[in-house]
Amino acid sequence: MQSAPVTKYRPFPPVDLPGRQWPNRTLTRAPIWCSVDLRDGNQALAQPMSVEEKLEYFDLLVRIGFKEIEVGFPSASQIEFDFCRRLIEEKRIPADVTIQILCQCREDLITRSLEALRGAKQVIFHLYNSTSPKQREYVFNAPKSEIVRIATHAVGFLKAQMRPLVAAGTKVRLEYSPESFTSTELEFSLEICEAVTDVWQPTAADPIILNLPATVEYATPNVHADQIEWMCTHLTRRDRTIVSLHTHNDRGTGVAATELALLAGADRVEGTLFGNGERTGNLDIVTVALNLYTHGIHPGLDFSDINRIRDVYERCTKLEVPPRLPYAGELVFTAFSGSHQDAIKKSMPHQRPGRPWDVLYIPVDPADIGRSYKAIIRINSQSGKGGVAYVLENEYGFTLPKLMHKEIGKIINDLADQKGTELTPRQIHAAFQKEYLKRTTPLALTQFKTVESKKLVKCEAGFTFRGKRLKVAGQGNGPIDAFVRALAATTLPKVEILSYAEHSLGQGAQAKAVSYIQAKVGGTRTLFGAGIDTNIELASIKAIVSALNRSLAK
Ligand code: KIV
Ligand code: ZN
Repeated sequence: MQSAPVTKYRPFPPVDLPGRQWPNRTLTRAPIWCSVDLRDGNQALAQPMSVEEKLEYFDLLVRIGFKEIEVGFPSASQIEFDFCRRLIEEKRIPADVTIQILCQCREDLITRSLEALRGAKQVIFHLYNSTSPKQREYVFNAPKSEIVRIATHAVGFLKAQMRPLVAAGTKVRLEYSPESFTSTELEFSLEICEAVTDVWQPTAADPIILNLPATVEYATPNVHADQIEWMCTHLTRRDRTIVSLHTHNDRGTGVAATELALLAGADRVEGTLFGNGERTGNLDIVTVALNLYTHGIHPGLDFSDINRIRDVYERCTKLEVPPRLPYAGELVFTAFSGSHQDAIKKSMPHQRPGRPWDVLYIPVDPADIGRSYKAIIRINSQSGKGGVAYVLENEYGFTLPKLMHKEIGKIINDLADQKGTELTPRQIHAAFQKEYLKRTTPLALTQFKTVESKKLVKCEAGFTFRGKRLKVAGQGNGPIDAFVRALAATTLPKVEILSYAEHSLGQGAQAKAVSYIQAKVGGTRTLFGAGIDTNIELASIKAIVSALNRSLAK
């Protein structure tokens, strides 16, 4: 990098728009969506999609609910031409879906594109040429008037050449893009858009689509919004124009730029699933659509099975959805941090059907997009006690007493540290069983019985302790008390019960009980034990033995 002062780059010039309205607005409805996956995906993929993959992808876009789908650049390659033909000839385009094709402002390409469209019910013919000063200077070496002429000539040519197609029943709409719009002088963008509109002569019933691309994202999203508001307020036939957005993501703010530009008055959004596309990608439509949804606006697109959508996307494009990508990423409903896990656990029970979603740290109900709560919490060495307790409760039904969370949390964290990886719920359950429920050394309970007489409980218990058999007896005001007193008569460390909790595991005759005992062992060490049995009394005795064994093991 250049050391300061940075002279190699310059700030992007602001738009002079003192009365800008967009900062005061909120979004109230979804835009018209247009998927450009099948064009940009193909242009930018290291391994382009086969026709079969494109067909599968097209069907996916239809199922999601896209009504406008750019199917490619048929005049640019035989594959794209053939794909367009197959869609039409095999009648794969639903009646309410309009296909869009991309074409440069050249007569030969327009003629070829019209051939590709024969037999289609309705199409958007998307013409574009570059308009920015740098493109005019470096690439075309042409003055503004020539750039305008290229566009208007192409539109006039299309209008004349499409007559047979229209006569045969195809409805043709025009989309025009001044490519590199955001790097073009606004007055010139307006001039060329107006000139194209003059030639096309749109009506309110059949408006023109003016697509204003951020071909390369150079500015902050507020500047983009200013540019769009400026255009929206200066176009003379706004009532006959659909203003369309097409952001790229070079600065990582394609989504923000689109959202602000919608506030600025745009009607339509072009983008791709998960932001695929040239360089840093096109706008991620999934994120913008679900951002609207989480503000209570239905996007008109169905992402209720986002995992399946991601699978088809990954298979066809051979790209991976990044694990942190909003909504679809593998890790976005997973909290590793202890305090976050705790807050999620505490806010979950407050959810009520029919009430607004309000779970801390999770802005969308994962179930709405086909993802599950179960995956919400995963445990690694950074996780806290709440997360472990949550997993044991939600996956295995153990409601550990609050005081026990810290102890089990540390055990699991240490284990995760040792392994150097996160732990699955299965591993957590296995560790819990090993530490508390399956401890039979050095003390193994072989027998336990009680009799009750005159409000006193007498117990007899048998053990093996370091290979020797041991029998104890005692009496107290309940089985736990009797057992603790019986132990006190041995050389084993003294056990003092501090707290006790129990609940059933499962339902019906086969249900077992689980007990959790917090004990002070040997007068110093406070720790928990846990036991399971179909007999609740025995479950508590096992829990005491578990605590004792844990203490002796240390
Ligand atoms: O990014 C862009 O400018 C484009 C145009 C062809 C619309 O993709
Ligand atoms: Zn683009």
